[in-house]
Amino acid sequence: MISSLPDTATVAFGVATAAYQIEGATSEDGRGPSIWDTFTARPGTVRDGSDGSVACDSYHRYAEDLDLVARLGAGWYRFSIAWPRIMPEGTGRVEPRGLDYYDRLVDAALARGLAPTATLYHWDLPQALEDRDGWLNRDTAEAFADYAGVVHDRLGDRVRVWATHNEPWCAAYLGYAAGVHAPGRREGGAGHRAAHHLLLGHGLAATRLHDAGVDDVGIVLNLAPYWPEDPDDEALVAATDGIDAVRNRVWLGPLVDGRYDDGLLAVAPELADPALVRDGDLALVRGSADWVGINYYTPFRTAAPGSAERHPEQDAYPGTAPVSFVVREPRTDIGWEVDASGLEQLLVDTHRRTGLPLMVTENGAAYPDTVLDAEGTIDDQDRIDYLRDHIAATRRAREAGADVRAYVVWTLLDNFEWAEGYTKTFGIVHVDPRDQTRTPKASFHWLAAHISDPGVGSTVSP
Ligand code: FCB
Repeated sequence: MISSLPDTATVAFGVATAAYQIEGATSEDGRGPSIWDTFTARPGTVRDGSDGSVACDSYHRYAEDLDLVARLGAGWYRFSIAWPRIMPEGTGRVEPRGLDYYDRLVDAALARGLAPTATLYHWDLPQALEDRDGWLNRDTAEAFADYAGVVHDRLGDRVRVWATHNEPWCAAYLGYAAGVHAPGRREGGAGHRAAHHLLLGHGLAATRLHDAGVDDVGIVLNLAPYWPEDPDDEALVAATDGIDAVRNRVWLGPLVDGRYDDGLLAVAPELADPALVRDGDLALVRGSADWVGINYYTPFRTAAPGSAERHPEQDAYPGTAPVSFVVREPRTDIGWEVDASGLEQLLVDTHRRTGLPLMVTENGAAYPDTVLDAEGTIDDQDRIDYLRDHIAATRRAREAGADVRAYVVWTLLDNFEWAEGYTKTFGIVHVDPRDQTRTPKASFHWLAAHISDPGVGSTVSP
């Protein structure tokens, strides 16, 4: 086995994007509709009523965008592939123009010295599959593996590092329990059923890729630390443990041990249903990941119910006892507490738990960037501080023994931020919605100045 992951000597540096958030061109070149097209068309689902039909128009401007990544000196470009561009009906017919697009993108990345890292599922399920019950239907997991195989057949000679899912917690629980993400279903415990099928899809796709000779198949998780405000409050500690199970252990248990643990089953009895979790499912998932991606933004502090803010997404933890969430200052524009120690803890704990190489596959911050002067300079010092502190936390985690190979910033461009529409900007490059002009912010220049050894394997130091 020859790994193409960044080596252990340094922290490789990259930037991440996702198809629906930047591409636009949603009805071009035979792309089929996705659940995000349907969801955003429904009134009241997105804060500013917007959608991804134009987004950053990166479908047409990808070369300019990759020029920016190269100018930054990054070595890794993490992007996602839109399933409905490849298989507009979700299964069966393959759309060659969709494959052609990613073929061009990969070549353009390589031509600039960037290692392309592909994520197969960043939430844009073909609507045709949702019409057959989406991730609540076991067939979707099989369809995902077929799609993974089709994409690999075309790109596998050049893309060596693959991720199956991005944040399956969001796809399952925000999508099918809380209903705040597509497909917008509020069906409680259905979130657990979706989670199982997402894991199964990961396992089937990973098997497909491994059989085709890929050595580096990962899964990208938004694991999160949960900190009870009062560690002596037994009821709170127990409720927090249930939340931790639904957010973190639902993925790590199957991946590492091939089982759902008892604490999880206590809040998610759905996962004990043999009609859902069939013989062999968890054995297939166990050991299927060669690396784990961690997307980290914030820690979560829990408190006794009624004592603080109700978490807006509490419905996304079906079966758990209610808690309140305490969000301390400082917060970013999206309301997430800034605390880099959560990242350090998560990396150390996840490495200990999995023994696998880790990559920070997303980390970044939303701040309301205003265009300051005639040159359009954007002085996002708050974002620079955030990135610097989290890069330092990544280094501390490595010093404590966590095998962290890469630090990947979310995100290159101000883009379509899901249910927040265009109101929350995470980019290190400003995008003018009127004419799509890209303007690097101060954070872009700061990162560029702190990245050493340009090219693949480039590293970053605080
Ligand atoms: C993550 C998503 C990513 C982006 C950031 C802010 O949950 O993976 O697409 O929206 O949050």
